[in-house]
Amino acid sequence: MQTDATLPRDAVTPFRFRPEVPKPRTQDLSLFGFLRAARENPITTWMRSHFEQPVVAAEGVLGRVTVVSDPALIRYLYVENAKNYRKDDLQRRILAPGLGNGLLSAEGEEWKNQRRTIAPIFSARHVTSFSESMNLAGARVARRLARRGGMQVEAANEMTRVSLDVLERTIFTQGLKRDPDAVGRAITRFLEAIGPIDPLDVFGMPNFVPRIGRLRARPAGRFFEEVVDELIERRRALTASGGEAPHDLLTLLLTASDPETGNGLTDLEVKANIVTFIAAGHETTANALTWALFCLSQDAASRERLEAEADAAIGTDGHFALDDLPFAKAVMEETMRLFPPVPFMSRQAIRDDRIGRIKIPRNSTVMVAPWVLHRHRMLWDDPDAFVPERFLPENRESIPRFAYLPFGAGPRVCIGQSFSLQEATIVLAHVARAVRLDLAADHPPVVPLHRVTLRPQGGLRMRVHDRGTAGAENQASEPPLVGAGPA
Ligand code: HEM
Repeated sequence: MQTDATLPRDAVTPFRFRPEVPKPRTQDLSLFGFLRAARENPITTWMRSHFEQPVVAAEGVLGRVTVVSDPALIRYLYVENAKNYRKDDLQRRILAPGLGNGLLSAEGEEWKNQRRTIAPIFSARHVTSFSESMNLAGARVARRLARRGGMQVEAANEMTRVSLDVLERTIFTQGLKRDPDAVGRAITRFLEAIGPIDPLDVFGMPNFVPRIGRLRARPAGRFFEEVVDELIERRRALTASGGEAPHDLLTLLLTASDPETGNGLTDLEVKANIVTFIAAGHETTANALTWALFCLSQDAASRERLEAEADAAIGTDGHFALDDLPFAKAVMEETMRLFPPVPFMSRQAIRDDRIGRIKIPRNSTVMVAPWVLHRHRMLWDDPDAFVPERFLPENRESIPRFAYLPFGAGPRVCIGQSFSLQEATIVLAHVARAVRLDLAADHPPVVPLHRVTLRPQGGLRMRVHDRGTAGAENQASEPPLVGAGPA
């Protein structure tokens, strides 16, 4: 494994921010202790050996679990022998009730067909075409923050709002005629209902045991489905009548076709994937942005460098282009190294296998944990330090592909990877251009809490300093968001 190529040797680094995180355990937990820790905050269950060994196999509450952190062995698991591993029952139990059979939870032939059909929607060309929506949402949150100069804001909420704003603008360019805010409200209610992960899901109670989360999801789920049904129906009618459909993910899903069979997606599949994009894309991106703001608030030099980049890169129309923001992008990538929004991924072996020298029995669980991998002692130099320079173009190539996996890898790699990296980079640049955010003076220690994603426990209160740049560029180009015409 490589050891030191990931930190530029010539960098002068008098100060490096090393965020406080739960210390790896040095002693095994009792069964009860493990259950309690896993329920309260699963990232506190990792042992020191996980951060030091390439592979750790153990019998535990979930049966035999093998944690793989060697890039070559991860490549074997995710690429070379990917067909022997499926998403495990644990993930399916958690995901399927909320998301229907969208791309994230489908398996087998159904997944293959959907992936082939949907992949072109997230092509570089399409993702670039969404940068306008991302800029409009970024400029909007920047203006909202600048107006609060001298006050405190809950940064985690602001970042959630902006990521939902981006999804709304890119999935349904135009909302519902009868009620412009219905889409936003439906999404929020739906997410609130499926949000909390039920401990019973994690520890394998059979499916017929009623779950509070699932019961609560029903009415909100129905309301959301009605809203999406109406949007699909009206959009289909518009395209059938020869009207010009807006360029957004809904139109792209409705007109997508499988390059092998020519088949399109059914309305049910379109719906399941809209729900999936929202659920998979909003909290992950929002948390990445929130952690970036936290790290920057503790690292004055990186923050100043980002501000200088944003000041220089902003266009006369008040928009940013991704290519002009290498440092902002590096900040996002380094943030997702230290605080990966998806802290672990698990797979189940279909047949007996061997990963390196370790036997993998059929049906046992194999995990890749970005939380562990990204701080692994054998892979990274100064692993706990926030060093965005690692990800600048001149250093990026020395990071082994399978040592850095915030978006997973192989056939089931995140389909929204470039979408969300572009979104987060552009939004971060807007925020840095408009305001400077400091941690509130009386803030308790910021601790990562692993729910479905990794977030700061209790949120992130920040004090806003208006940089006085609002209005410096022409930001008047925002078209009406929703309800302004036929969808
Ligand atoms: C920072 C933001 C994001 C992170 C860190 C992230 C992370 C991930 C990871 C780790 C996986 C793979 C899970 C596994 O292998 O078990 C995944 C899959 C997926 N993600 Fe993302 N994601 C992000 C944003 C998005 C966005 C914006 C969308 C959609 C617009 C999206 C849609 C999906 C879908 C559909 C899958 C399933 C792909 C498949 O199984 O074929 N994600 N994501």
